Order: sequence, then structure tokens, then C-alpha cells
Amino acid sequence: MSTGTTTGATFNWRDSYSVKVQAMDNQHKRLFALINELHGAMGQGHGKEVAGDILRRLIDYTVQHFYAEELLMQEHNYPGLATHRAEHQALTDKVIAFKKEFDAGRTYITPQLMTFLQQWLKNHIQAVDQRYGDFLNSHGVH
Ligand code: FEO
Repeated sequence: MSTGTTTGATFNWRDSYSVKVQAMDNQHKRLFALINELHGAMGQGHGKEVAGDILRRLIDYTVQHFYAEELLMQEHNYPGLATHRAEHQALTDKVIAFKKEFDAGRTYITPQLMTFLQQWLKNHIQAVDQRYGDFLNSHGVH
């Protein structure tokens, strides 16, 4: 079990993270895998090119996931869409700003960054994403 203060070698999706919508659970699992991949690259001391490629794939997939999730909420008139979208936008802005600094050689992948990403994903799923589960289930989305 992660303490929340370390980067932890294992960062695994677990059943308690389910949002009760299969497609979104699958996308969240993919995000966990990409964060693990980035963590592994950092731990193995891979070069900037390898870490940069994983970071780019993580950002691209995060943006895709946010878009898919927002579309699903929009299609079913989910009342919490605006605040949820704002959270997505804030994280997207932050990681894109980080990537620019990374590409310019002004920052690098640190344990602190990994902790931030892990905590953000876990907290967002549990505090924000899980709120739409029952709502979407009641609209026939599982
Ligand atoms: Fe699954 Fe709101 O991100």
C-alpha cells in the first residue's frame, strides 16, 4: 500500500478505484500503466529522449481520456460537468507547462513529479470521477 509520501515501486489500479463505467476504468488502468512506465524510466536512469517519449504519450493519453470522459458526461447531461472539466483543464495546463520546461532542459523527471502524478490520479478518481458512476449507471451506462 502506498503511503502517499513515496513514489512506491508499485502503483496499481485496484477495484476500489472503479467508477462503475467499464470504458473509463479501462482508460484509468492505462493511465496507471503509463505513470508506472515513466516511473520505471526514471528509476532506470534512462535518457531524456526515452523519458520525454513516455511523458508525451502520457500527456496525449490523458488529454484523450479527459475528452472521452467529458463527452460521456455531456451526452448524459451530468450536472457536475463544469467543475469536473475545470479540474481536467487545470491538470492539463500544468503538465503541458512541465513538458515545455522538460523539453527546454530546464527541468527533469523527479520523484516529486511522480508522487504528484500518482496522487493526482488517485485523488481525482476517488474524489471527482467516482461521483459520476451512479449517475451514469442510472442512465444505462455501465
Ligand atoms: Fe478520469 Fe476525470 O478523469
